[in-house]
Amino acid sequence: MSPPDSWRGKDEKRVEIKRIGVIGAGQMGSGIAQVAATAGYQVKLMDASCSQLDKGLAFIAKTLQRNVTKQRITEEEKSQILSRIEGITELKAAAEDSDLVIEAVVENMEVKSQVFKQLDEYCPSHTILASNTSSLPITEIAAVTNRPEKVIGMHFMNPVPVMKLVEVIRGLATSDEVFQTVEALAIQMGKTPVEVNDFPGFVSNRILMPMINEAIYAVYEGVATPEAVDQVMKLGMNHPMGPLTLADFIGLDTCLYIMETLYEGFGDSKYRPCPLLRKYVKAGWLGRKSGRGFYLYHQ
Ligand code: CAA
Ligand code: NAD
Repeated sequence: MSPPDSWRGKDEKRVEIKRIGVIGAGQMGSGIAQVAATAGYQVKLMDASCSQLDKGLAFIAKTLQRNVTKQRITEEEKSQILSRIEGITELKAAAEDSDLVIEAVVENMEVKSQVFKQLDEYCPSHTILASNTSSLPITEIAAVTNRPEKVIGMHFMNPVPVMKLVEVIRGLATSDEVFQTVEALAIQMGKTPVEVNDFPGFVSNRILMPMINEAIYAVYEGVATPEAVDQVMKLGMNHPMGPLTLADFIGLDTCLYIMETLYEGFGDSKYRPCPLLRKYVKAGWLGRKSGRGFYLYHQ
C-alpha cells in the first residue's frame, strides 16, 4: 500500500541541482564525485580523514589521466573536471551550499545517522539528502532528519565510473518530486536508474551478498580453495570476477555489514554471516583496501 500523497509532499517544487556534496572519499565517494564533476556539476568532496581525502582525489586524477591516454577526454577536459571538485574535511562546508548531498561513509547505521543529523542541521531547506548505503533502511535514516520527504537512496555500483546501474530507493516518506529529481540526475550522470522499494539489501545486495557469503562458506567448510571457487564462477558462470575476488574488491567490512543488515532485517537464518568473514574483518583483513583479504594485494 502506498502512503497518502500528503506524506509524499505532493505540492513541492522540483529542485534544480547545480552543486553536489559528497560525504566520504573512499572508493565509492571518490567515484561518485568523479562522475558528478564529469557531468558538469560543482562538487564538494568531504572526508573526515585527510589522508583518505588525498587518496580519493589522487585516484580521481589517475582515472581521468587514463581517460586522456585512451583519448576519451582531452587534457583540457580533464583539468575542467578536476577544477569542479573541491576536497574538504569540514562537513558544514560541504553541506551549506549544496542542492543535493550524497553520503558514502562507512556502512554503519550509527555513523550514517550522525552524518544525516548534521546534514539536516547544516543544509538549506531545499537540499535533497541521498545515501549510497548498500543495504540500510532509507526510512530509518530519514527518520533522524526533519525532512524525511527529501531523503532517498541513491545506490551506485563499484567501480562507479564503469558500472551503469543506480538503484534509486524510496523511503516511506520520500516525495515523488525528490524521486524524479534523483532519477533525472542519475541519467544526467550517465547511469541507468532502477526504482526499488526500501527493504534490507534492496535488490542488488539481497541477491549478490548471499552468493558471496555462500562462496565464503564453501572455503570455510573446505569444499575448495578461494582460487577454485572463483575459477568455477568465472569460467562456469561467466562472472567477470569470482565472488571472493569481488568480496575483496567491495571490502570485507562492507560485506559483513550488509550480511548483518539482511540477517537482522529479515530475521532469517539463511542470511547468517559466515564465521570466516567475521574472523577476517576482526583481523583487519578487509580485502583490497587493506592489502589482504582472500588474496594478497600490493598497496
Ligand atoms: N575505478 C575506475 N575505473 C576502473 C576501476 C576503478 N576502481 N576498476 C577498473 N576500472 C576500469 C579500468 O580502468 C578499465 O578501463 P579501460 O576501459 O580504460 O581499460 C575497465 O574498468 C576494465 O578494467 P580492467 O580491464 O582492468 O579489468 P576487467 O575487464 O576485469 O574489468 C571490472 C574490471 C569492470 C571491475 C570487472 O571486473 C567487473 O565488472 N567486475 C564486477 C564488478 C561488480 O560486480 N560490481 C558490483 C559490485 S557490488 C556493488 O557495487 C554494490 C554494493 O553495494 C556492494
Ligand atoms: P570506504 O571504506 O572505501 O570509504 C568510506 C570513507 O568514509 C572513508 O574514507 C572514511 O574516512 C570516510 N568516513 C567514515 N566516517 C565518516 C564521517 N563520519 N564523515 C566523513 N567521512 C567519513 O567505503 P566504500 O566502499 O566507499 O563504501 C561507502 C558506502 O558506500 C558504504 O555505505 C557502502 O556500503 C556503500 N557501497 C559500497 C560499495 C562497494 O563495493 N564498496 C558499493 C556500493 C555502495
